[in-house]
Amino acid sequence: MNSESLDHASGLFLLKRAARSRPATLPQPMDTAKLRAYPDTMLIRSETPSDIDAIRALTETAFGQPDEARLVDLLRADGDAAISFVAVLDDQIVGHVLFSPMAAPVKTLGLAPVSVAPTYQKQGIGAQLIRRGLSQAQLDGWQASFVLGNPDYYTRFGYSVEAAKGFTNQFAGPYFMARELAPDALKTPFAVSYAPAFDKL
Ligand SMILES: CC(C)(COP(=O)(O)OP(=O)(O)OC[C@H]1O[C@@H](n2cnc3c(N)ncnc32)[C@H](O)[C@@H]1OP(=O)(O)O)[C@@H](O)C(=O)NCCC(=O)NCCS
Repeated sequence: MNSESLDHASGLFLLKRAARSRPATLPQPMDTAKLRAYPDTMLIRSETPSDIDAIRALTETAFGQPDEARLVDLLRADGDAAISFVAVLDDQIVGHVLFSPMAAPVKTLGLAPVSVAPTYQKQGIGAQLIRRGLSQAQLDGWQASFVLGNPDYYTRFGYSVEAAKGFTNQFAGPYFMARELAPDALKTPFAVSYAPAFDKL
């Protein structure tokens, strides 16, 4: 997969476009009122087979193109949907996050893609999905996670460009971030690569 298509797969294309249209700002503290927007009615749970069509439709709508939805299908078909959570509101899937195993010397997950239905964005649903995914990853014994995206967004979840420095990956650079899920897991840099589905797009 070339860097342009991974840009698309990770939403970096959209993130870059959004970043260009927004003034450069430091990450803002989370608005906890937003996190409480759906206190009783929103459910975050693992995907089930009956969710597959809805996840595909949601992902296509969120990204405005089919590539990321195809990536989700390919990762699932390969058995690489290590963590796949949906956000459900009024029986409707309004958000989805996927973490897939990366080839690395420590147990490592790549975060991509994450999607929230356009009308439900900016209400904390993406943040809840990512935080729940990271908690599950720790419970499951994963030691580290990488993401390619806009640092303005992902630093609030503990990812940093600094933590990914020195790690070998074809997309290493200013949008490539890492965070430890276990102490000292990223102390010594290593080569890390995304699941094979990322190369099939
Ligand atoms: C990115 C996405 C998942 C975020 O979900 P969300 O539920 O809207 O996010 P949250 O409500 O948790 O957080 C909203 C914050 O993220 C910021 N944000 C959202 N999209 C952003 C982007 N493309 N670039 C930078 N920041 C972004 C918002 O400005 C907002 O910031 P604030 O908290 O300082 O106001 C959602 O906007 C989406 O589905 N986008 C299209 C697909 C995509 O680009 N996915 C990410 C790449 S894998």
